[in-house]
Amino acid sequence: MAGKNRRIRILENGPYHVTGGVPLYEKVITPKGDGYTLEEGRELPQAEAYRLCRCGKSANAPFCDRTHERTGFSCRETASRVSYRRAAQFTAGAGVDLLDDGRCALSRFCHTDEGTVWQLLDATDDPEIRELVIKAAGECTTGRLTILNKNGMELEPRLEPSIVILQDPEEEVSAGIFVRGGIPIESPDGQVYESRNRVGLCRCGQSRNKPFCDASHIRMEYHDKPETR
Ligand code: FES
Repeated sequence: MAGKNRRIRILENGPYHVTGGVPLYEKVITPKGDGYTLEEGRELPQAEAYRLCRCGKSANAPFCDRTHERTGFSCRETASRVSYRRAAQFTAGAGVDLLDDGRCALSRFCHTDEGTVWQLLDATDDPEIRELVIKAAGECTTGRLTILNKNGMELEPRLEPSIVILQDPEEEVSAGIFVRGGIPIESPDGQVYESRNRVGLCRCGQSRNKPFCDASHIRMEYHDKPETR
C-alpha cells in the first residue's frame, strides 16, 4: 500500500530505487528579494516505484535510463554515520539556538532580506526575526541547519514524506534531491541512514560526501555541469 513501505534504496553503482508511492515534485530555486524561494517546476509522473538517476548522465533525468551501466558509474558512499546531533555544532542565540553540521548544498535559503541565519541569531529575541530565522533554517534542503527553542526542542517544519527534484537556473545547473519527511534511505549493504525530516541527496554523481549532496554540482572543480532538466 502506498505510504506504508516508503523507502529509498541506494543500488550499488546505480540509481536510487524509490518505493511506497512517494510523491515526486520538481521545484526551482528562485531569487526573491535578498533571499530565495522554491517555485513549482515541471509536473513529474507519479508511481508506486521509480528509479532516480544518481550518476548525472541520464537522458531522461530525473529518472535513471540505465546510462550508468554503459558508462561504468562507480560510486562509493563516503558520508559519516555519526548522528546529526553529535556532528552538529551548537550556537546559542538570543531567542532560539542553532545546530549546524556544515553540510551545504548551496541552495541559499539561509539568506534572508535581513541577513543570514547566523547573522540574525543574536536578534532572535525579536519575534519577527525569530520567525524569519526559523523559516530560513527550516528551508535548508540538506537539513544542515536546525533551530532549537530554549528547551532544546527542534522547531522543524511539518513536511509531507516526499521527494523534490531541485533545479537551480540562477547557477545554470540541476541541483540535488531534497528528501522530506523522514523517508528511510538504505545503503546497498542494508544499513539505513539516520532518519531526518530534511536530507539532500546527490544526483550529479560528483559529491565527495555520497550519498548526500555537497554542492559539487555548483563548485568550481565540477566543470562538466549537467544541463538544467
Ligand atoms: S544512475 Fe542510471 S542513468 Fe544515472
